[in-house]
Amino acid sequence: MNTTILIIGAHGQVGRVLTESLQDKYGRESVIASDIRKDENANGIFEVIDATDFDRIKEVVIQYKVTQIYHLAAILSAKGEENPLKTWDINIKTWLNVLEVSRICHVEKVFYPSSIAVFGNSAPRNNTPNNAYLDPTTVYGISKVDGENWAQYYHIKYGLDVRSIRYPGIIGYQSLPGGGTTDYAVDIYHKAVLNEKFICFLNEGTVLPMIFIDDAIRATIEIMEAPAEKIKVRTSYNIAGISFSPKEVASEIHKRYPDFKIDYKPDFRQNIAEGWPRSIDDSEARMDWGWKPVYDLGAITDTMIRELKSQYEMTI
Ligand code: SER
Repeated sequence: MNTTILIIGAHGQVGRVLTESLQDKYGRESVIASDIRKDENANGIFEVIDATDFDRIKEVVIQYKVTQIYHLAAILSAKGEENPLKTWDINIKTWLNVLEVSRICHVEKVFYPSSIAVFGNSAPRNNTPNNAYLDPTTVYGISKVDGENWAQYYHIKYGLDVRSIRYPGIIGYQSLPGGGTTDYAVDIYHKAVLNEKFICFLNEGTVLPMIFIDDAIRATIEIMEAPAEKIKVRTSYNIAGISFSPKEVASEIHKRYPDFKIDYKPDFRQNIAEGWPRSIDDSEARMDWGWKPVYDLGAITDTMIRELKSQYEMTI
């Protein structure tokens, strides 16, 4: 059977890059990008889908004979705290819609993005293991823990092939994150390249797990392509890239922009970050389906600066 992929939330930070990678891999005609609003510049097939609308997802899945769904739509950690009940509603409702449509329409594989936000105060902060106790402090984190359990439930009860990874903070140049606690690690590079001062909403020493977008996309495609018997964890897999603090990024940037200026004005996001791991133990992902990150902080910094410079030069 041919592979036909539906991406829900194709305009987000991960969705934009993943759509292009999947188009390159499977061909444009095999990838249906969707989001709540149309993007006039989108290349390839695009459908407007509000993922809270069960019937609309089902209609598109049937129309295109979709065999795989990547469900990327969600409200992230910081934004989610502005309206916890709405965040809960959107994050859970869209996911249950995707699971149920997948069950009814016999979708072969489904991808669910989880997050380091599933961990809370009971998990060890350093080298947090895959099976640590999960007591998240944000509504986003609570919704991801529930989402993971629903993934496992559909797998056990209905045999649905759902696969999931817990993303660290994602750093990329192609698209902007929106409403996350790790967003500073993208914004800081934009400010450096624009020669502007950066005001960081986290304290200088706040270490968080991060990953470069290319590694994150590769992990996503690798877990989806692994033979089913290799996927032993049906809630979600920890994956690690690299851990660092705002001060460490700033010092990498200083090596390339000696005049770069940064100030620290921690806000409510500091509390969120302090509830999260400092580093992640991803040995299960490494063992089960061969995960291995490539980018360290130096390589991330070189790539971010090179790519953002060329993007900004093109718009001048
Ligand atoms: N990057 C996300 C956030 O900060 C974590 O998954 O909310």
